[in-house]
Amino acid sequence: MRIILVAGARPNFVKIAPIREELERRDGVAPVVVHTGQHYDDPMSEAFFRDLEMPPPDHNLGVGSASHAAQTASIMRGFDELLDREHADVVVVVGDVNSTLACSLTAVKRGIPVAHVEAGLRSYDWAMPEEINRIVTDAVSSYLFTPSLDASRNLEREGRRPEDICFVGNVMIDTLLKWRDRATGNSTVLGDMGLAPGGYAVLTLHRPRNVDSATALEGLLGALAAIGSEIPVVYPVHPRSAKMLEASGLSDLARSTRGLVLKEPMGYLDFVALEAGARFVMTDSGGVQEETTFLGVPCLTLRPNTERPVTVACGTNRVVGSEPDAVVAAAKGILDGDVPDPKRQPELWDGRASERIVDVLLAREEGAA
Ligand code: UD1
Ligand code: UDP
Repeated sequence: MRIILVAGARPNFVKIAPIREELERRDGVAPVVVHTGQHYDDPMSEAFFRDLEMPPPDHNLGVGSASHAAQTASIMRGFDELLDREHADVVVVVGDVNSTLACSLTAVKRGIPVAHVEAGLRSYDWAMPEEINRIVTDAVSSYLFTPSLDASRNLEREGRRPEDICFVGNVMIDTLLKWRDRATGNSTVLGDMGLAPGGYAVLTLHRPRNVDSATALEGLLGALAAIGSEIPVVYPVHPRSAKMLEASGLSDLARSTRGLVLKEPMGYLDFVALEAGARFVMTDSGGVQEETTFLGVPCLTLRPNTERPVTVACGTNRVVGSEPDAVVAAAKGILDGDVPDPKRQPELWDGRASERIVDVLLAREEGAA
């Protein structure tokens, strides 16, 4: 049986790694990794294959950056041509990026079953390109592997057949569990920056709502100046944000904001070590909300909503929005001791999600053969 695993953007590499490894352990199945090339800078792509000790992808479509339509179209065309040459019994897609959408559509139109890992998450915010990607991908997927019960319920409410919905847990946590101790034990990232555990905050930003508007970015830099006067804030800058800081003429302001430590995007192991030692994390990332929940590190989500409510219900996440006063108040609250208590680990975030996914895939596909 040939199973294609699709990955294109930074969080995808973290999600496919444990599925690939689990497939390698099983007899009679050949995983084929297809990198679409949506992300391509070394720290956004190859660095993850090195850190997670994954062999290089079997294919790279090399699509690069473009508008949503142009990028989706070139991934579809490249993947379609690949499927002319490379037989696939199932195509596995992860997450909610353009590569996820493009490869799902391409596969389903060729009659190949699609398995969506991280199905059912909903922000109900159509201004997010990811929400469109999630809904369309789920609509064409035969296997809906959900990371949390809220996601399963969303799919049930949308009328999906219960037998297609499989609650398996969170593959990102499979990877975190595997690498956390090595990351915290071996990474020199804190020492290199002269930081001690608990003595700094972390920031990541890449959502268009936060970084594509000069007004929003400038407002956030104002908030970071206030927070940075109390605790250093380490900010590995996502390339989208780097581009927007430059284009809006705010790079100098960012560089001169006291307490704000600008870094290149980090490799996975360094970033996990940074997250694990942080007093708190401010982010608009999906994966970082989940990792901080698992690590028990307070997280302030700089968005008006989250498609991952389990991180609020069970974990350390507070959704505070991006309004500068609200961000400063939430950060100072944590510094003053108002720290969100981790309640419990979300159900099935136990390091075995990939095992469950592969069990279901192999049992059903072998049954269907
Ligand atoms: C994408 C995903 C988003 C995900 C994020 C993870 C979509 C619609 N968005 O957002 O859901 O959370 O990845 O990081 O799929 N760029 C580089 N080098 C790179 C990659 C990107 O310079 O290696 C720059 C380019 O200028 C590009 C911009 O970043 O135009 C945005 O990249 P793109 O992949 O379109 O979207 P992201 O914002 O990265
Ligand atoms: N990450 C990383 N280096 C960084 C920032 C994030 O390795 O500098 C990792 C993080 O640990 C998580 C993933 O990238 O595993 C999240 O990706 P991102 O925030 O880009 O995307 P999202 O999860 O929002 O789709």
